Amino acid sequence: MSVRLSNGEEIPIEMHKTRMVQKIQLVPVEERLKAMEEAGYNTFLLKTKDIFLDMLTDSGVNAMSDNQFAGMISADDAYAGSMTFYEFAKSVEDVLGYKHVMNTHQGRAAEHLLAKVFAKSDGVIPTNYHFTTTKAHIELQGMQVLEIYYDDALKTESTNLFKGNMDPNKLRAIIKKYGSEKIGFVRMEATTNLIGGQPFSMKNLREIRQICTENKLLLVMDGSLLCENAYLIKQREKGYENKTVAEVVKEMCTVPDIYYMSGRKNTSVRGGCIATNNLKLFELIKPWLPVYEGFVTYGGMSMREIGAMSVGMREMVDPSVAGCSVEQIKYFVNKLVKAGIPVVTPPGGLACHLDAKKFLPKIPQSEYPAGALAAALYIASGIRSMERGTVSMDRDKNGNDVFADVELTRIAMPRRVYSMSHIEYAIDRIEWLYKHRDLVKGLKFVSEPPLLRFFFGKLEALDDWGIGLKNAFKKELGDA
Ligand code: F0G
Repeated sequence: MSVRLSNGEEIPIEMHKTRMVQKIQLVPVEERLKAMEEAGYNTFLLKTKDIFLDMLTDSGVNAMSDNQFAGMISADDAYAGSMTFYEFAKSVEDVLGYKHVMNTHQGRAAEHLLAKVFAKSDGVIPTNYHFTTTKAHIELQGMQVLEIYYDDALKTESTNLFKGNMDPNKLRAIIKKYGSEKIGFVRMEATTNLIGGQPFSMKNLREIRQICTENKLLLVMDGSLLCENAYLIKQREKGYENKTVAEVVKEMCTVPDIYYMSGRKNTSVRGGCIATNNLKLFELIKPWLPVYEGFVTYGGMSMREIGAMSVGMREMVDPSVAGCSVEQIKYFVNKLVKAGIPVVTPPGGLACHLDAKKFLPKIPQSEYPAGALAAALYIASGIRSMERGTVSMDRDKNGNDVFADVELTRIAMPRRVYSMSHIEYAIDRIEWLYKHRDLVKGLKFVSEPPLLRFFFGKLEALDDWGIGLKNAFKKELGDA
C-alpha cells in the first residue's frame, strides 16, 4: 500500500507491525571483498553471515503472518487424507476458483510434471518469456522454448505498462509454422520474471486464450507472481480500477486451462501447486505425482507448510500483501530514475532491476556485466542481488555463451521484510557505485556446471578490480 504525505509525496507504507525480528549485520568492506572472492564472484555462493540486506530473491524469504504460523501449528500430520490438505483445497477454490489441486514441493516440480505430461516429440512451448527452471524442464523433455513477447518488451527503459504481454501475431505465426500438434502448451507467466517483473494485461491474456481455443491448444498460466500482476492490472488497465485485487485474481484464473505456481513468493511458503477445473487434465498429471513428489494430499510438502500456505493463499489477495513489494519497488525505481541511474521501467513486481549494459557500458556481454554489477554492489553495500543476464543462460551445444536479451542485476524485494531506511541505504550505495562505475571490470568463468550454471559456477574478477573498488570505498566511506 502507499500513502500520500501532506507535501504531496507518495510513499510505500507498511500495513503490519513487527513482532519478531532477526538480527542482521554489516561486515566491513575488506570482509565483503574476501567473502566475494571466496564465493567466486557469484552471489549465490555467499553465506548469510556476510550479507546485510539479502535481496537475492523474493522466494522463500518473505515474512509470514501470525495467522500463517498458527496454521502451521494446527496442521494435521498424515501421509494420506490430511484435513489440512482439504482446507488448502478449499482456499484454492475460494481464492483462485479451481476445483482440483495438487501440491508440489516447489514451482519447478510443477514445471517438471507439466513438461513431462504434455511433452510432444520435437515439440515447442511458446511463452511470453521463459523462466530459468521452466526452460530447463522443457528442454529436458526434448522441446524448445519460443519467446514471443512484443518487440519493445526488451527495451529496459519504457513507458509500456504491460511488457509481459504475448504477441498474438507471433503466436499465430508459430501455430502456422509448427502446427498445433507440435505445441505442448502455450505458457503465460504472470509478472514476467526475467524481463524485469513486468505484468501482462487481462486483455492480452484473453486474446491469447481465444487463439488457443481456436487452435485447440492448452493454455498454462505460471502464477508464481500472480497477485503482483493483478495489483498492477488494477492500477494500470482500464476497467479494472474499481475491482478488488481478489476479483482481478479470480478473473485471471478463469482464463487458462491449467494454473501452477511456486508458493514461495505470493503465499510465502516453501511449496507449489498445480490447479485446474478440467478433471481430465488433472487425471493425466495425477499418476505422476506420487512418483516424483508424494501422495496426492501432500505432494512433497510438509503438512505444516500446507497449513501456512492455506492461510497465505487467502491473505495474498489482500492489497496490503499483494501491493507491499510493488509499492516499495515503485519508490526505489523512481528514486534511481531521478538520480539518472539506468533501471528497468516502468517499475514492476518482484524487484528493482539495474540495466547492467547501460550501468557498465564498457563491459562486453562475454565478460558478464550483470554478474560484475551484482558482485560490485555487494562489495559496496553488503546487499546481495542476483545476476539475470548471460551467466543465467547456459552454453549452446558447441560450448559457446548464449548472450542474454537483457543484462539485469536484480535487487529483489522480499514481502514485508525490509523497511524504508533499508531502501534509502540501497539507493545511496547504488548512487555511489554509479559514480565509481569505471572501477568495475568484467568477470571470467573459472568453473561451471553444464546446467543452470548460475547456481554453482565460479568466476574471477578481471584485473582483480574488486581490490580497487574496496580501496575507493574505504577511502571515502570507511569500513561500513
Ligand atoms: N516460475 C517463476 C515465474 C518463478 O519466478 C520461479 C522461481 C519458478 C517458476 C520456480 O519456482 O523456485 O518454487 O521452484 N523463481 C525464484 C526467483 C527462484 O528467485 O525468482 P520454485
